[in-house]
Amino acid sequence: MENIIKDIDIIRGEEETSSAFKVTAEENTGKAKRLYIESYGCQMNFSDSEIVASIMKETGFDTTSDFNNADVILLNTCSIREKAEQTVRKRLSQFNQVKKANPELKIGVLGCMAERLKEKLLEEEKLVDLVVGPDAYRDLPNLVSQAEDGQKGINTFLSREETYADISPVRLNSNGVSALISIMRGCDNMCSFCVVPFTRGRERSRDPYSITKEAKELFDQGYREVTLLGQNVDSYKWSSEENNKARLNKKETEVAEVVYFSDLLEMVANVDPKLRVRFSTSHPKDITDKVLETMKRYDNICKYIHLPVQSGNSRVLKMMNRTYNREWYLDRIKKIREILGENCGISSDMIAGFCSETEQEHQDTLSIMDIVQYDFSYMFYYSERPGTLAEKKYKDDIPLAVKKRRLQEIIDKQGTLSLIRHQREVGQLQEVLVEGLSKRSNEQLKAKNSANKVVIIPKSNLNIGDYVKVRITDCTSATLFGEIVNQ
Ligand code: SAH
Ligand code: SF4
Ligand code: F3S
Repeated sequence: MENIIKDIDIIRGEEETSSAFKVTAEENTGKAKRLYIESYGCQMNFSDSEIVASIMKETGFDTTSDFNNADVILLNTCSIREKAEQTVRKRLSQFNQVKKANPELKIGVLGCMAERLKEKLLEEEKLVDLVVGPDAYRDLPNLVSQAEDGQKGINTFLSREETYADISPVRLNSNGVSALISIMRGCDNMCSFCVVPFTRGRERSRDPYSITKEAKELFDQGYREVTLLGQNVDSYKWSSEENNKARLNKKETEVAEVVYFSDLLEMVANVDPKLRVRFSTSHPKDITDKVLETMKRYDNICKYIHLPVQSGNSRVLKMMNRTYNREWYLDRIKKIREILGENCGISSDMIAGFCSETEQEHQDTLSIMDIVQYDFSYMFYYSERPGTLAEKKYKDDIPLAVKKRRLQEIIDKQGTLSLIRHQREVGQLQEVLVEGLSKRSNEQLKAKNSANKVVIIPKSNLNIGDYVKVRITDCTSATLFGEIVNQ
């Protein structure tokens, strides 16, 4: 789920660019102290930062967008690739200068790097005062006050239950239209390349009623789109009896109520027909026909699926421990097209140059891209992560230059496919949701269609949060352009 900071780059290469971080919006409710928070990595981290801001608010902090003004700086970090960690370390050394000017300033590392490195981070980065893992944010007030007393604060305890269900997030950097809702935490899959199961702990699902309550509150505040977040949303499973535990011990017939992902989708879609529902990330081994049929039944469930393939070759997929093969994946795609039609957006993640990948196996990734015709993808070259199964079992033996060349071929292929997919939409009538001003011109608006594509339209007399019918008139590989159709 490294993805979906989508409004910034539709097609991204391996670079961990500035799109990987966001600075908080200014919030001034008259609190005594100032918090500056930056988030790296996936949408889960962005969503967690909103929970952190809420917890910090309770303890007397408003957010600021100027770190020079801050009493506490928090970096919510990502460990997914080596580069992601390097970016954070560079940022920490920049904050060193700020701390020199203001020795009272406290600096904390949150998220996946905190969890992966634990006290090592305090040893390696002397200026860090706080290290807090993803399940320990409720302890922040306590840890911050320890730091204020001159001690180092650390808590990297991973929980089997924590879902922060009762915490009302402070929406940071929001466009006021779309919001993230975390529906589960952790991951029980063991993809051999991936550090997430180690940094986020065991999978657990959040109480569905707290999710619909949050969605309803967002709708009442004017939001028109929610994205339900989890590393593997299709394995969402909640039981009223065992509370937020995804893994049920009892037979399902013995428990009062079990809510699966398709049920949850339906519950959120029923909050209001004018509330769009999106979700991410789906796992090819788990996405069910029932989910696809639920998507079909509700106009307000967006017709877009992020279904990361990682590789198009079955031997490599086996080594990656993805638990599906090329045929299984293509069968899922066939089902998506059968049930949801050609217009449903499909995107993917790809890893180039995984351990022992041959040239022919790389060609299989290019060929599966051609078959599926992805709308866009997040593309990376393999970065070995300490402690993962791949690091223990396989040799990271593809030279960097080869990884980069293969990645470039994947990026080029995606560029061609995105253009083809966009061109087929030219001439179509679509309903889009207005999200804000276009970056290029104040006379144009940025809107999104159901398939998660940006559509640039004339400003007219529209407002942010409006739904409008448009005809697609033109496109590039990254953007669609539309004209408003008489309303
Ligand atoms: N839960 C999501 C993905 C989470 S990580 C899923 O299963 O699809 C986001 C993406 O980062 C992955 O899909 C993968 O493409 C990429 N990624 C993860 N570990 C990586 C590594 N060690 N090197 C390169 N890319 C990696
Ligand atoms: Fe990582 Fe695999 Fe879990 Fe995704 S499903 S977070 S890639 S272990
Ligand atoms: Fe997300 Fe990065 Fe952690 S992708 S779960 S922030 S390792």
